Amino acid sequence: MRKILVSLVLLAMAVGARAADKKYTIGMSQCNLGEPWRVQMNADVKRAADKHPNIEVIYKDAQNDTLKQVSQIREFIASKVDLLIVSPKEAVPLTPPVSEAYKAGIPVIVLDRKVTGSDFTEFIGADNKKIGRYVGQWIVKTLGGKGNMVELKGLMTSTPGQDRDSGFREGIQGSNIKIVFEADMKWLEPNARKEMESALATNPKIDLVYGHNDPGAHGAYLAAKAAGREKEMKFVGIDALPQEGQAYVRQGILNASFEYPTGGDVAIEKALEIFSGKQVPKEIVLDSRVFTKDNVDSGGEWLK
Ligand code: FRU
Repeated sequence: MRKILVSLVLLAMAVGARAADKKYTIGMSQCNLGEPWRVQMNADVKRAADKHPNIEVIYKDAQNDTLKQVSQIREFIASKVDLLIVSPKEAVPLTPPVSEAYKAGIPVIVLDRKVTGSDFTEFIGADNKKIGRYVGQWIVKTLGGKGNMVELKGLMTSTPGQDRDSGFREGIQGSNIKIVFEADMKWLEPNARKEMESALATNPKIDLVYGHNDPGAHGAYLAAKAAGREKEMKFVGIDALPQEGQAYVRQGILNASFEYPTGGDVAIEKALEIFSGKQVPKEIVLDSRVFTKDNVDSGGEWLK
């Protein structure tokens, strides 16, 4: 009897040890690594994953090429990863491979930009519509309800671009703010700079530029500076990385930057929950702060 008990205890210990030892492979499909924000996202994933020796993350960078991202996700499916984290470039074309992974039984965490439909395990990201609305309200307040402005949009086939636009338009509704120039700069600073050159050439009076991300707002600032007009107008962007947007606010280049957390650490936390069999919510909404000259040194102000 004693012998049986001892063997049972030993067996239980062995099983327990094996569960803790079980190795998991996570495929991380990143749409591009050409921007500081995405480099930060991968670093956040890595820092969180490094705390768990039983997790291995394999990174693929689609270099801002939708078709490449589609095939990289399919490679992850073929190699039977235990979980996929996908930060998709565009919503519609990335929906089929994400759905294929999910249907093949691979849990999928969609990070930051969305896909369509509901064939994924969990979406993690901040509320871009809400951030856009706060940007709009901030602009109305800052310009005293009237003025001419430029909107430089993020890629409009990606959901943050769509939501940062529609939320912002809600935010300025009822005011006398006029959008005198708008263009899709596809999240990229050089595009923003070029678009801003056109905006400056055709508009003698610009009071403010809203860039859907900080690289966009900074590109616009550089164009205005080159034309000797940067002091005429205010600049607002989104992302607020400490080394980018927050630094621009400190330097007086941007008047405000709204935080867009990468969620990389949360994705790893949720992956571990999924591995342990826990039911996770379909959507996790991350909080955001606004940074201005007055609050950047005290940690910004949370959006409510
Ligand atoms: C980086 C980026 C960020 C932006 C996010 C939106 O690729 O453009 O600047 O906040 O993607 O998905």
